[in-house]
Amino acid sequence: MASKKQLEELFSHARAAADFAYAPYSHFRVGAALLTEDGTIISGCNVENRSFGLTICAERNAVFQGIAKGHRKFTALAISTPDSPVPVGPCGACRQVLSEFMNANAQVRFGSSPPDHIDTTIGDLLPLDSLHDLKT
Ligand code: THU
Repeated sequence: MASKKQLEELFSHARAAADFAYAPYSHFRVGAALLTEDGTIISGCNVENRSFGLTICAERNAVFQGIAKGHRKFTALAISTPDSPVPVGPCGACRQVLSEFMNANAQVRFGSSPPDHIDTTIGDLLPLDSLHDLKT
């Protein structure tokens, strides 16, 4: 369970990552930060493409960067959408990918600018997930 301080630090990494977003088409920057089991923070941002379907979300970018660095389990996630007045949660595709490497009780915080945030869990974002239910 990430502490209040850890979640705040995670969110500030997500906010910083959003500044690296490549979003010339949507102008909607997203930053994500994952906490690993050993306390490492891995960040990612959205990267768009002129062939729109090739765009990768910040959340999946962060997961793939973590996996490429040898991590296999993430205990918390923060998402920053500084161009949105309300907190924006991960898309359905990202929820599925996140659930591969996070337990149902893993904490998720998403926040906007002006500052407002929602705290939830992977299980709440992807309920009735068969793999989690089977504890595989
Ligand atoms: N985006 C993310 O990075 N994460 C989400 O969960 C929602 C959408 C990105 C994709 C695209 O670059 C931009 O936000 C607008 O949809």
